[in-house]
Amino acid sequence: MGRTRKNTRNRDDISAGVRGIIAGSTEGKCDIDIPDPFCLLIFGASGDLTKRKIIPSIFRLERLNLLPRNFFILGSSRSEMTDDEFRDTMRDAVQAALPDDFSASAWKTFAKRLHYLPVGYTDVKAFKRLSRHILPLEKEHRTNGNRIIYMATPPTVLESIIQNLDDSGLSKKTTGYTHVVIEKPFGRDYDTARKLNILLKTFFEEKQIYRMDHYLAKENVQNILMFRFANSIFEPLWNRRYIDHVQITVSETIGVEHRAGYYETAGVLRDMFQNHLLQLFALIAMEPPSIFEADRVRDEKVKVFRSMRPFPVDGIDDFVVTGQYGEGKVHKKNVVAYRDEPGVAPKSVIPTFAAMKVYIDNWRWNGVPFYLRSGKRLASRKAEISIHFRPVPHIMFSQSMEEEIEPNTLVLRVQPDEGIKLSFQTKNPGSKICLNPVVMDFTYPKVFMLNAYERVLLDCMQGDQMLFVRADGMEQTWSLLTPLIEKLESAIKTDMFPNYVSGSSGPPEADALIEQDGRRWRPL
Ligand code: NDP
Ligand code: BG6
Repeated sequence: MGRTRKNTRNRDDISAGVRGIIAGSTEGKCDIDIPDPFCLLIFGASGDLTKRKIIPSIFRLERLNLLPRNFFILGSSRSEMTDDEFRDTMRDAVQAALPDDFSASAWKTFAKRLHYLPVGYTDVKAFKRLSRHILPLEKEHRTNGNRIIYMATPPTVLESIIQNLDDSGLSKKTTGYTHVVIEKPFGRDYDTARKLNILLKTFFEEKQIYRMDHYLAKENVQNILMFRFANSIFEPLWNRRYIDHVQITVSETIGVEHRAGYYETAGVLRDMFQNHLLQLFALIAMEPPSIFEADRVRDEKVKVFRSMRPFPVDGIDDFVVTGQYGEGKVHKKNVVAYRDEPGVAPKSVIPTFAAMKVYIDNWRWNGVPFYLRSGKRLASRKAEISIHFRPVPHIMFSQSMEEEIEPNTLVLRVQPDEGIKLSFQTKNPGSKICLNPVVMDFTYPKVFMLNAYERVLLDCMQGDQMLFVRADGMEQTWSLLTPLIEKLESAIKTDMFPNYVSGSSGPPEADALIEQDGRRWRPL
């Protein structure tokens, strides 16, 4: 189970040949190439994402010896802060995010790499100041002009940042690479996503653009392709002849938390389906690329999106169910309804749950339904993909057995307890004819895992776009979902929500969606 990652760029710096090692796989070690020196320029550095994910991830990567000796972080946002104030805020954030990995001595070294400069996103003069500020830092930290520009701001300010990066010369250099990381949401429909792609491509090449989908970086999501295409026993079965249907579930116990401002303009279809669920779907459904290379893999994913059957404008209820949580109990605690969350409109019709049935019109998957569901405030936190095989063609035990034989199921657990479980039938020892469903269950040992943000940051430093979404893939998913979202939004009425109790498995209509086909959801 070893894994070696290759640096795709020339490596003529001091770190060439150096490797970090994450030990603890089931049998051996995983080698990860150390990236070249770099500068990480973060816009929105006073915000939640920077505190909770970006800085703790970089800190932990350094603790794991996976970063080069030479790198620095320049935080930037409108808030006035000195370097030291920024360092103090980030120290608290890292301590809170990584209580077990934090050490005062490691922080002392790390803190020297943190810098801050306030910038108004529409102020070109401020960007020119930033441009002048970054040069001596790059010299001091010997980062060879390599820059990662991370947009950790609300999407509303992206346009002016991108324009000002160009006007100030920050994105034009003669040495090193410039990679731009764009967070989700990437637009809110097909037109806005396309507009954003056009804007980005005015200033950057596709190979410089890293569109985030942190689900792609989860360990067992990356494993999907390895599992499918590095084992000979499953791939021959991976088609309509042997698979009855596929379920993809991403359920959350949390509610909207402090994010009503964003969520009220998004809802679950934009927040979870357009990106995370459809990416999982594509990895399960795609054809094998000829080589494991970012663009070849992304080509195959786009082909899946292109083969998806559009949702019928009439009769959409047979394919899609939406819901919004009411009050209830989660983990034995009373929780309020979505409409009573801070910042949510009292008559909001934003869906916090959706379930859908999707077909792919191609040779491999013709007639196989994929059932996708995701929601907030559900009974458990779980992300999993289950492959439900067809029943055996003839049950020779039928005279002696009353119960039906459960068909085989393969479950890929994305979180929690990342692993793989295959259920099959065996004979119950002692009895004459009594079948007993048993499971083979593999759970990843925690020790060798990088979390999703650590993984994507490292890949972005290494110039590996495999776990990022390409422009055509982004537009294709939006083009499928935009008419659906518009249709649902035009039909929704305030008295239709709330329609599920917090802590439940979603609205009863979602059960009906799959039960009308004679199937059942896996329990949450
Ligand atoms: P925040 O709302 O915390 O905003 C980040 C920073 O941007 C703020 O600190 C603020 O800095 C600046 N800002 C906020 N609102 C405005 C505004 N209206 N105009 C200009 N500047 C503003 O966002 P997050 O850090 O939560 O998220 C950043 C991006 O990452 C968003 O696109 C979000 O959707 C995405 N994301 C976030 C996740 C998370 O867990 N937080 C998860 C996945 C994606 P200042 O006032 O100092 O300029
Ligand atoms: C984010 C969504 O992309 O993913 C959130 O915006 C959601 O609404 C989150 O809670 C789920 O991610 P994870 O990694 O916690 O499953």
